[in-house]
Amino acid sequence: MKAILATEFGGTECLKYKDVDIPEIENDEVLIKVVKTSVNFADIKARYGKKGATLPFIPGLDAAGYIEKIGSSVSELQVGQRVIAFPKKGSYAEYVVASDKLVFLIPDSLDFRTAAACPTVTFLSHRLLYNIAQIQKGESVLVHAAAGGVGTTAIQLAKLMGAEKVIGTVGNKEKVKIAEESGADFVICYEEEEFDSKVNELTEGQGVDIILDSVSGSVTEKSLNCLAPYGRLVHFGNSSGTIGKIKTIDLHSSCRAVLGFSLGTTRKQKPHLLKETAGAVIPYLVNNQLKIIVGHEFTLKDAAKAHDVIEKRLNIGKIVLNVTDED
Ligand SMILES: NC(=O)c1ccc[n+]([C@@H]2O[C@H](COP(=O)([O-])OP(=O)(O)OC[C@H]3O[C@@H](n4cnc5c(N)ncnc54)[C@H](OP(=O)(O)O)[C@@H]3O)[C@@H](O)[C@H]2O)c1
Repeated sequence: MKAILATEFGGTECLKYKDVDIPEIENDEVLIKVVKTSVNFADIKARYGKKGATLPFIPGLDAAGYIEKIGSSVSELQVGQRVIAFPKKGSYAEYVVASDKLVFLIPDSLDFRTAAACPTVTFLSHRLLYNIAQIQKGESVLVHAAAGGVGTTAIQLAKLMGAEKVIGTVGNKEKVKIAEESGADFVICYEEEEFDSKVNELTEGQGVDIILDSVSGSVTEKSLNCLAPYGRLVHFGNSSGTIGKIKTIDLHSSCRAVLGFSLGTTRKQKPHLLKETAGAVIPYLVNNQLKIIVGHEFTLKDAAKAHDVIEKRLNIGKIVLNVTDED
C-alpha cells in the first residue's frame, strides 16, 4: 500500500511517499481501507521527534473509510461498514489498523470529508468542555487559536452546550472572520492586542469561566489574568513550543482550577470513555448542528505541503488528505 513515512526527524523533507506492507490485525482489531485522513498539529510535533515515536513511522491520528477486515473477537463491527477511527499507528496510509474500541460507525449521510476531519477535534473539544471543564449553561468561554481545527470546533460546541459568551483569540487578522463564522461573539488578535485586558473589558472585569489553552507559554500565564473566580483553565497543548508557569497563589483563594487533558493518553489508557463521546458528537455532525470547517485539502502524496501550511500558521480550520477520490 502507499503511505507517508517519516524516515528521519526534522523538516517536511523527512516525509516520504512510499510502498509499505498492509498492516496485520490482532483478534480485537479492525483493518480499515482509508478514504480520507486529516492533519493535526500533533503530526508536526511527531515529525520533529517530540511525540516519542520511533523511526520510521507513519504520521496521523485519525481516519475515515470502510472496514476491510475484522479480528476473530470483534463482535460489533462488520466488513464494509463506513467508520471513523483512531488508528493504532499512523493514519497517512491506504490501510490502517485500529482497536475495535476506537472505531465508530458513521451513517451514509455523513460525507467522508467531514468524517475524516472530525475525530480528533470533535472528540477532544467535547471532552474538554463537557467532561473536564464541566461547562454550565450561561458560562463564558475563551478559546485560544480560535481559527484552527480544534478552535473552530470548540467554539461551536461551547455554544451548543449553552455558553453565553464565547471569545476567541487568533494569530492574525485574516483568521478573525473564521472564528466569528464559527460562532465566537468576540475575536481578539493576540499579536496586536493584550488579550487578557481585552477579555476583562468584554466581561465587565469578571473574566471568563472557562479557558481552552493549547498554546502554552506566555498565553497560559496571561490567561490567569482573565479567568473568573471558580473558573477552569484547561490546558491541552503547547503549540507555541514554550512552557508556562502557574503560580499556586493564583488558585486557592479564587477557587480557580487548572486542568490538563490528553486525548492520546485517553485513547491508550481509557479508550472505553470515547464511546460516550462518539455518541454525543456524531449526532451533532449528522444533524448539521456542528460544521467541521475544512480549510485545505491535499492528496496523500502531498502531505508535506499540508504540514507546511500549519507550520507557517496559515491554516484555517482542518486540513484533509485525500487518500482516494471518494467524497
Ligand atoms: N491534548 C490533546 O489530546 C490534543 C489533541 C489534539 C490537539 N491538541 C492541541 O490542540 C492544539 C490545536 O490543534 P490543531 O490540530 O487544531 O491545530 P490548529 O489549531 O489548527 O493549528 C495550531 C495553531 O496554533 C497556533 N499557534 C500559536 N503559536 C504557534 C506557533 N509557534 N507555531 C504554530 N502554531 C502556533 C496557531 O494559531 P494562531 O495563529 O491563531 O495563534 C496555529 O494555527 C495544538 O496545540 C494541539 O497540539 C491537543
